[in-house]
Amino acid sequence: MRLGFLGTGEIAAAMVRGLAGQGHDILVSPRNAALAARLCAEVPGVAVAPNPEVVAGSDVVFLCLLARVAEDVLPGLPFRADQTVISVMVDAPLKRLRGLCAPATDISITIPLPPIATGGCPLPVYPASPVLEALFGARNPVLPQPSEAALNAHLGASALCSPILDQLLTTADWLAGHTGDPGQAEAYIAAIIRTFLPERARGGELAAALAGLSTEGGLNATLRAAMSGAKDDLRRGLDGFHARLGLDTPSGDRT
Ligand SMILES: NC(=O)c1ccc[n+]([C@@H]2O[C@H](COP(=O)([O-])OP(=O)(O)OC[C@H]3O[C@@H](n4cnc5c(N)ncnc54)[C@H](OP(=O)(O)O)[C@@H]3O)[C@@H](O)[C@H]2O)c1
Repeated sequence: MRLGFLGTGEIAAAMVRGLAGQGHDILVSPRNAALAARLCAEVPGVAVAPNPEVVAGSDVVFLCLLARVAEDVLPGLPFRADQTVISVMVDAPLKRLRGLCAPATDISITIPLPPIATGGCPLPVYPASPVLEALFGARNPVLPQPSEAALNAHLGASALCSPILDQLLTTADWLAGHTGDPGQAEAYIAAIIRTFLPERARGGELAAALAGLSTEGGLNATLRAAMSGAKDDLRRGLDGFHARLGLDTPSGDRT
Protein backbone atom coordinates (compact mmCIF):
# COMPACT_ATOMS: atom_id res chain seq x y z
CA MET A 1 0.00 0.00 0.00
CA ARG A 2 1.10 3.62 -0.51
CA LEU A 3 1.04 5.33 2.88
CA GLY A 4 1.64 8.99 3.70
CA PHE A 5 2.39 10.68 7.02
CA LEU A 6 1.80 14.41 7.55
CA GLY A 7 3.80 15.47 10.61
CA THR A 8 6.95 13.47 11.27
CA GLY A 9 7.06 13.57 15.05
CA GLU A 10 7.08 11.14 17.93
CA ILE A 11 3.91 9.24 17.06
CA ALA A 12 4.41 9.18 13.28
CA ALA A 13 7.87 7.69 13.82
CA ALA A 14 6.47 4.99 16.09
CA MET A 15 3.78 4.10 13.51
CA VAL A 16 6.26 4.00 10.64
CA ARG A 17 8.54 1.72 12.67
CA GLY A 18 5.52 -0.47 13.44
CA LEU A 19 4.85 -0.84 9.70
CA ALA A 20 8.43 -1.86 8.88
CA GLY A 21 8.93 -5.04 6.91
CA GLN A 22 5.42 -5.19 5.41
CA GLY A 23 6.40 -3.97 1.94
CA HIS A 24 4.58 -0.62 2.03
CA ASP A 25 5.78 2.49 0.19
CA ILE A 26 5.79 5.21 2.84
CA LEU A 27 6.11 8.97 2.31
CA VAL A 28 6.83 11.21 5.30
CA SER A 29 6.74 15.00 5.40
CA PRO A 30 10.05 16.86 5.68
CA ARG A 31 9.34 18.84 8.86
CA ASN A 32 11.59 17.43 11.56
CA ALA A 33 14.19 16.62 8.88
CA ALA A 34 16.49 14.75 11.25
CA LEU A 35 13.78 12.29 12.27
CA ALA A 36 12.56 11.92 8.68
CA ALA A 37 16.13 11.08 7.60
CA ARG A 38 16.48 8.54 10.43
CA LEU A 39 13.26 6.81 9.36
CA CYS A 40 14.48 6.64 5.74
CA ALA A 41 17.72 5.02 6.88
CA GLU A 42 16.00 2.65 9.29
CA VAL A 43 12.84 1.48 7.51
CA PRO A 44 12.98 0.14 3.92
CA GLY A 45 10.44 1.82 1.61
CA VAL A 46 10.38 5.20 3.41
CA ALA A 47 11.02 8.42 1.45
CA VAL A 48 10.66 12.12 2.30
CA ALA A 49 8.37 14.37 0.22
CA PRO A 50 6.70 17.78 0.57
CA ASN A 51 3.19 17.70 2.07
CA PRO A 52 1.33 17.96 -1.31
CA GLU A 53 3.33 15.00 -2.68
CA VAL A 54 2.70 12.99 0.48
CA VAL A 55 -1.03 13.39 -0.09
CA ALA A 56 -0.97 13.00 -3.88
CA GLY A 57 1.19 9.86 -3.69
CA SER A 58 -0.72 7.97 -0.99
CA ASP A 59 -3.74 5.66 -0.76
CA VAL A 60 -3.86 6.22 2.99
CA VAL A 61 -2.88 9.49 4.67
CA PHE A 62 -2.12 9.57 8.40
CA LEU A 63 -2.60 12.95 10.07
CA CYS A 64 0.07 13.12 12.79
CA LEU A 65 0.19 16.90 13.26
CA LEU A 66 -0.61 18.90 16.33
CA ALA A 67 -4.28 19.83 15.95
CA ARG A 68 -3.53 23.52 16.38
CA VAL A 69 -1.68 23.62 13.03
CA ALA A 70 -4.24 21.52 11.12
CA GLU A 71 -6.01 24.59 9.69
CA ASP A 72 -2.68 25.98 8.45
CA VAL A 73 -1.44 22.72 6.93
CA LEU A 74 -4.38 20.73 5.52
CA PRO A 75 -6.45 23.13 3.37
CA GLY A 76 -5.22 23.12 -0.21
CA LEU A 77 -3.58 19.69 -0.02
CA PRO A 78 -4.77 17.42 -2.87
CA PHE A 79 -6.96 15.00 -0.92
CA ARG A 80 -9.06 12.67 -3.11
CA ALA A 81 -12.46 11.07 -2.73
CA ASP A 82 -10.91 7.58 -3.10
CA GLN A 83 -8.45 8.12 -0.26
CA THR A 84 -8.50 6.89 3.33
CA VAL A 85 -7.53 9.41 6.00
CA ILE A 86 -6.64 8.28 9.51
CA SER A 87 -6.09 10.98 12.11
CA VAL A 88 -4.29 10.50 15.42
CA MET A 89 -4.70 14.15 16.40
CA VAL A 90 -6.15 14.90 19.80
CA ASP A 91 -8.57 17.87 19.72
CA ALA A 92 -9.51 17.45 16.04
CA PRO A 93 -13.10 16.12 15.85
CA LEU A 94 -14.43 14.28 12.79
CA LYS A 95 -16.68 17.17 11.77
CA ARG A 96 -13.62 19.44 11.50
CA LEU A 97 -11.56 16.78 9.69
CA ARG A 98 -14.32 16.26 7.10
CA GLY A 99 -14.08 19.94 6.22
CA LEU A 100 -10.28 19.96 6.14
CA CYS A 101 -9.79 16.76 4.11
CA ALA A 102 -12.64 17.08 1.56
CA PRO A 103 -13.37 15.44 -0.82
CA ALA A 104 -12.04 12.44 1.17
CA THR A 105 -14.88 10.92 3.20
CA ASP A 106 -13.32 7.71 4.54
CA ILE A 107 -11.93 9.41 7.66
CA SER A 108 -11.30 7.71 11.00
CA ILE A 109 -9.64 8.71 14.24
CA THR A 110 -7.49 6.36 16.28
CA ILE A 111 -5.26 6.57 19.37
CA PRO A 112 -1.82 5.05 18.88
CA LEU A 113 0.75 5.22 21.67
CA PRO A 114 4.52 5.06 21.18
CA PRO A 115 4.70 1.25 21.84
CA ILE A 116 2.94 0.77 18.47
CA ALA A 117 6.53 0.72 17.16
CA THR A 118 6.91 -2.81 18.47
CA GLY A 119 3.26 -3.94 18.58
CA GLY A 120 0.75 -4.82 21.27
CA CYS A 121 -0.71 -1.29 21.34
CA PRO A 122 -4.54 -1.28 21.57
CA LEU A 123 -6.03 0.96 18.86
CA PRO A 124 -9.52 2.28 19.63
CA VAL A 125 -10.95 3.68 16.40
CA TYR A 126 -14.06 5.53 15.23
CA PRO A 127 -15.58 4.98 12.77
CA ALA A 128 -14.42 1.38 12.24
CA SER A 129 -11.58 1.26 9.72
CA PRO A 130 -10.86 -1.89 7.70
CA VAL A 131 -7.70 -0.13 6.47
CA LEU A 132 -6.38 0.41 10.01
CA GLU A 133 -7.18 -3.23 10.76
CA ALA A 134 -5.34 -4.39 7.63
CA LEU A 135 -2.27 -2.29 8.40
CA PHE A 136 -1.90 -2.70 12.16
CA GLY A 137 -4.37 -5.41 13.23
CA ALA A 138 -1.97 -8.35 13.02
CA ARG A 139 0.26 -6.88 15.73
CA ASN A 140 -2.11 -4.59 17.63
CA PRO A 141 -5.69 -5.15 18.82
CA VAL A 142 -7.94 -2.74 16.85
CA LEU A 143 -11.00 -1.75 18.92
CA PRO A 144 -13.85 -0.14 16.88
CA GLN A 145 -15.95 2.22 19.03
CA PRO A 146 -19.71 2.84 18.75
CA SER A 147 -19.45 6.65 18.80
CA GLU A 148 -16.98 9.50 18.69
CA ALA A 149 -17.70 10.20 22.36
CA ALA A 150 -16.72 6.60 23.23
CA LEU A 151 -13.49 7.02 21.27
CA ASN A 152 -12.79 10.29 23.07
CA ALA A 153 -13.34 8.64 26.46
CA HIS A 154 -10.52 6.24 25.52
CA LEU A 155 -8.40 9.30 24.78
CA GLY A 156 -9.05 10.58 28.29
CA ALA A 157 -8.34 7.18 29.85
CA SER A 158 -5.09 6.82 27.90
CA ALA A 159 -3.79 9.92 29.68
CA LEU A 160 -3.46 7.72 32.77
CA CYS A 161 -0.22 6.27 31.37
CA SER A 162 1.65 9.48 32.10
CA PRO A 163 0.87 9.86 35.85
CA ILE A 164 1.30 6.10 36.36
CA LEU A 165 4.76 6.19 34.77
CA ASP A 166 5.53 9.21 36.92
CA GLN A 167 4.61 7.24 40.05
CA LEU A 168 6.71 4.27 38.93
CA LEU A 169 9.70 6.56 38.39
CA THR A 170 9.20 8.23 41.79
CA THR A 171 9.13 4.80 43.45
CA ALA A 172 12.21 3.62 41.52
CA ASP A 173 14.00 6.79 42.54
CA TRP A 174 13.06 6.22 46.19
CA LEU A 175 14.28 2.61 45.96
CA ALA A 176 17.55 3.63 44.31
CA GLY A 177 18.10 6.13 47.11
CA HIS A 178 18.31 3.14 49.43
CA THR A 179 20.13 0.65 47.19
CA GLY A 180 22.41 2.97 45.18
CA ASP A 181 21.49 1.19 41.92
CA PRO A 182 19.04 3.26 39.79
CA GLY A 183 19.05 0.82 36.85
CA GLN A 184 18.24 -2.20 38.96
CA ALA A 185 15.63 -0.19 40.89
CA GLU A 186 13.80 0.77 37.69
CA ALA A 187 14.01 -2.80 36.37
CA TYR A 188 12.59 -4.13 39.65
CA ILE A 189 9.64 -1.71 39.67
CA ALA A 190 8.85 -2.42 36.01
CA ALA A 191 9.03 -6.18 36.63
CA ILE A 192 6.73 -6.25 39.66
CA ILE A 193 4.10 -4.13 37.94
CA ARG A 194 4.30 -6.30 34.82
CA THR A 195 3.51 -9.44 36.87
CA PHE A 196 0.10 -7.97 37.77
CA LEU A 197 -0.95 -7.05 34.24
CA PRO A 198 -2.79 -9.83 32.39
CA GLU A 199 -1.56 -10.66 28.88
CA ARG A 200 -5.14 -10.68 27.59
CA ALA A 201 -7.53 -9.14 30.10
CA ARG A 202 -11.07 -10.51 30.12
CA GLY A 203 -12.25 -8.26 32.95
CA GLY A 204 -11.88 -8.75 36.67
CA GLU A 205 -8.14 -9.51 36.69
CA LEU A 206 -7.13 -6.08 38.02
CA ALA A 207 -9.68 -6.20 40.86
CA ALA A 208 -8.50 -9.73 41.72
CA ALA A 209 -4.88 -8.59 41.78
CA LEU A 210 -5.79 -5.66 44.03
CA ALA A 211 -7.70 -7.95 46.39
CA GLY A 212 -4.54 -10.05 46.67
CA LEU A 213 -2.63 -6.97 47.82
CA SER A 214 -4.94 -5.97 50.64
CA THR A 215 -3.68 -7.72 53.79
CA GLU A 216 -4.94 -5.66 56.69
CA GLY A 217 -2.08 -3.65 58.19
CA GLY A 218 0.24 -4.78 55.36
CA LEU A 219 2.53 -2.41 53.49
CA ASN A 220 0.30 -2.48 50.37
CA ALA A 221 -2.88 -1.55 52.23
CA THR A 222 -0.98 1.05 54.28
CA LEU A 223 0.45 2.83 51.25
CA ARG A 224 -2.91 2.69 49.46
CA ALA A 225 -4.61 4.32 52.44
CA ALA A 226 -1.90 6.99 52.56
CA MET A 227 -2.62 7.73 48.90
CA SER A 228 -6.42 7.48 49.04
CA GLY A 229 -6.78 11.14 48.04
CA ALA A 230 -5.10 10.33 44.73
CA LYS A 231 -8.20 8.37 43.67
CA ASP A 232 -10.38 11.47 43.92
CA ASP A 233 -7.69 13.51 42.16
CA LEU A 234 -7.71 10.99 39.31
CA ARG A 235 -11.52 11.08 38.99
CA ARG A 236 -11.45 14.87 39.04
CA GLY A 237 -8.74 14.96 36.38
CA LEU A 238 -10.65 12.55 34.13
CA ASP A 239 -13.95 14.40 34.67
CA GLY A 240 -12.12 17.61 33.76
CA PHE A 241 -11.82 16.25 30.21
CA HIS A 242 -15.62 16.20 29.65
CA ALA A 243 -16.01 19.43 27.70
CA ARG A 244 -12.69 19.15 25.85
CA LEU A 245 -13.46 15.61 24.69
CA GLY A 246 -17.19 16.14 24.05
CA LEU A 247 -18.10 13.33 26.46
CA ASP A 248 -21.57 14.64 27.17
CA THR A 249 -22.83 14.23 23.61
CA PRO A 250 -22.93 10.88 21.76
CA SER A 251 -21.64 12.61 18.63
CA GLY A 252 -18.56 13.80 20.52
CA ASP A 253 -19.28 17.43 19.61
CA ARG A 254 -17.02 19.70 21.62
CA THR A 255 -18.10 22.75 23.58
N1 LIG B 1 2.90 11.26 21.26
C1 LIG B 1 1.88 10.49 21.62
O1 LIG B 1 2.01 9.60 22.46
C2 LIG B 1 0.53 10.68 20.96
C3 LIG B 1 -0.45 9.72 21.21
C4 LIG B 1 -1.70 9.85 20.58
C5 LIG B 1 -1.95 10.93 19.77
N2 LIG B 1 -0.98 11.87 19.58
C6 LIG B 1 -1.28 12.99 18.69
O2 LIG B 1 -0.43 12.89 17.58
C7 LIG B 1 -0.15 14.18 17.07
C8 LIG B 1 1.35 14.34 16.96
O3 LIG B 1 1.92 14.16 18.25
P1 LIG B 1 3.49 13.95 18.44
O4 LIG B 1 3.68 13.58 19.86
O5 LIG B 1 3.99 13.06 17.37
O6 LIG B 1 3.95 15.46 18.23
P2 LIG B 1 5.31 16.01 17.60
O7 LIG B 1 6.42 15.06 17.95
O8 LIG B 1 5.42 17.43 17.97
O9 LIG B 1 5.04 15.88 16.03
C9 LIG B 1 4.31 16.80 15.30
C10 LIG B 1 5.08 17.00 14.03
O10 LIG B 1 4.34 17.84 13.14
C11 LIG B 1 5.29 18.58 12.42
N3 LIG B 1 4.75 19.72 11.71
C12 LIG B 1 4.49 20.96 12.17
N4 LIG B 1 4.07 21.74 11.14
C13 LIG B 1 4.07 20.97 10.04
C14 LIG B 1 3.76 21.19 8.68
N5 LIG B 1 3.37 22.39 8.24
N6 LIG B 1 3.88 20.16 7.80
C15 LIG B 1 4.28 18.95 8.22
N7 LIG B 1 4.60 18.68 9.49
C16 LIG B 1 4.50 19.68 10.39
C17 LIG B 1 6.29 18.98 13.46
O11 LIG B 1 7.48 19.40 12.85
P3 LIG B 1 8.54 20.29 13.65
O12 LIG B 1 9.20 19.34 14.61
O13 LIG B 1 9.44 20.78 12.59
O14 LIG B 1 7.74 21.39 14.33
C18 LIG B 1 6.43 17.67 14.25
O15 LIG B 1 7.44 16.85 13.69
C19 LIG B 1 -0.78 15.19 18.04
O16 LIG B 1 -1.97 15.66 17.50
C20 LIG B 1 -1.03 14.37 19.29
O17 LIG B 1 -2.15 14.83 19.98
C21 LIG B 1 0.25 11.76 20.15
